[in-house]
Amino acid sequence: MPFPLPPGSTIGILGGGQLGRMLALSAARLGLDVVILTPDEGSPASRVSRETIVAAYDDPDALARLAALADVVTYEFENVPAATVETLNRLGVPTAPGPLALAVAQDRVEEKTFLNAANAPTVAFAPIDSAADIEAALPRVGLPALLKTRREGYDGKGQAWIRDASEAAGALTSVGGVASILEARAAFVRELSIIAARGRDGQTAFYPLSENVHEGGVLRTTYAPAKVTPALQAEAERIAGEVLGRLDYVGVMGIELFDLGDGTLLVNEIAPRVHNTGHWTQDGCEVDQFEQHIRAVAGWPLGDTTPAVSVEMTNLLGDEVLDWAALAADPAARLHLYGKGEPRPGRKMGHVNRVKRL
Ligand SMILES: Nc1ncnc2c1ncn2[C@@H]1O[C@H](COP(=O)(O)OP(=O)(O)O)[C@@H](O)[C@H]1O
Ligand SMILES: [Mg+2]
Repeated sequence: MPFPLPPGSTIGILGGGQLGRMLALSAARLGLDVVILTPDEGSPASRVSRETIVAAYDDPDALARLAALADVVTYEFENVPAATVETLNRLGVPTAPGPLALAVAQDRVEEKTFLNAANAPTVAFAPIDSAADIEAALPRVGLPALLKTRREGYDGKGQAWIRDASEAAGALTSVGGVASILEARAAFVRELSIIAARGRDGQTAFYPLSENVHEGGVLRTTYAPAKVTPALQAEAERIAGEVLGRLDYVGVMGIELFDLGDGTLLVNEIAPRVHNTGHWTQDGCEVDQFEQHIRAVAGWPLGDTTPAVSVEMTNLLGDEVLDWAALAADPAARLHLYGKGEPRPGRKMGHVNRVKRL
């Protein structure tokens, strides 16, 4: 399929959550159709898309159907099986981002190894397969140290702090005894992130840094643009440019950063997709991260990332969404709801962007 994909083309999205939903809404505005592949019935994304295939990500019939419908396939989460992407490519459908970006982002050891080779500094780390590995790594990594599963952690799940060498075995058990990574503690003054994009022609675009506050491992609030020096923004863009270029990346990426307060930024992790810390762009920038991702994937020119206002983005977790009527009545609040049924505790149900003139 020749790029740019013309209006009327179809974008396949693996995953049916809120990120897929907001991607689908942006695609629709550009005259593009969306087909969702998700294992879940009635997903947030399927409610606003042309068609949904409800099946496992490795279901061969489902992938054949998706390949028949879609001109390009992208993802709204990074834990798509590598075999799924290989199958789609074999069936002749391009995927974006590519398999390398997925492989790197799916494994925290691969990720940090790649980042360091790309001149993107991280905390010191060691791959862990046993309690003895932890004890051997502690002299170099230092205490306290953070043990994380190599794969499939999100929202702070699969992590355990180690404050003393005697806690090594217990920590490994508590994360499930699976292949892990031991990380040095980042002595950050704040957490920042940069949303970056790269088009099919290699053009890049960067949003202003945002400052992110987590509670219990889950994003609570994003403040954007963050109050940073031009030098810190430039350093974030340097890092993002290296990462995108070396992955020959196509699409939007979220890069989580630790600000050490002395001009140093360490990369915490990369997400090869649109990112919760980029939701502020919906009401803050000329072109938001969702449209930007669709533009990149479809081979369109990237849009303008200039912020028009400053935004405070707050996630609506669990029951907080029940305040929707009051939020809708607040002229300063821009409400985004995900069409999810049950507000289970901690579940991301929506978000609110509060906008202030710059
Ligand atoms: N090495 C570290 N040092 C200090 N804090 C950390 C470190 N790694 C993670 N954290 C804290 O835990 C949060 C979640 O960790 P992260 O690696 O981003 O996992 P997840 O994939 O669950 O988002 C981070 O946003 C940060 O607040
Ligand atoms: Mg994270």
